[in-house]
Amino acid sequence: MELKQAIKNRKSVRKFVPNTTIDDNVIKDIIELGFAAPNSGNEQSWFFYVIKDEETREKISLLTYDQNFVKDAGVHILCCVKDVDKSKYGQAAHFFKIQDVTCAAQNMLLGCQEYGLGGCYIGALNRTEVTKLLEDIDPPNIVCLLAIGYPDDREDKTERDNTKYKIL
Ligand SMILES: Cc1cc2nc3c(=O)[nH]c(=O)nc-3n(C[C@H](O)[C@H](O)[C@H](O)COP(=O)(O)O)c2cc1C
Repeated sequence: MELKQAIKNRKSVRKFVPNTTIDDNVIKDIIELGFAAPNSGNEQSWFFYVIKDEETREKISLLTYDQNFVKDAGVHILCCVKDVDKSKYGQAAHFFKIQDVTCAAQNMLLGCQEYGLGGCYIGALNRTEVTKLLEDIDPPNIVCLLAIGYPDDREDKTERDNTKYKIL
């Protein structure tokens, strides 16, 4: 798929074909697209938890402020900041590292299309409760959750205002 087309075609998917499994190799490829993202100082201070277990996905969906569709996604990718070296960026480190993770998240959402998948960036997430829920793996600072699955939606793409720029 052409890169430009993939960028323009991407949209948030909030309805998924239920009860589908996403192949582990596909998930691995998508995560690797995340790893390819630009990131501050190339410190790669991110960590992605892939949640396949249905029961856990259901519990997570209950922590997304009534976004029920989240439970129907075939996989959840919890995108976190981990191992931040504050010595290099000081106070800005946190700010930088969140941006790193969101760059990776966008790569992954774009890459989903290559596999006929779609996804939604979930920011509305009770991070404290998700952290408690996944206590076994001790998730570090959660930036967002990607709900990914095979699209089953008829939603049009959202509109964009293409005037928000100025060439100086
Ligand atoms: C920081 C951030 C948080 C978001 N949180 C949510 C969310 O909790 N639930 C949701 O359905 N969409 C969420 N979105 C997706 C936006 O609603 C969506 O990207 C926007 O409406 C534009 O639509 P499009 O992605 O289809 O182009 C979030 C996006 C970003 C960047």
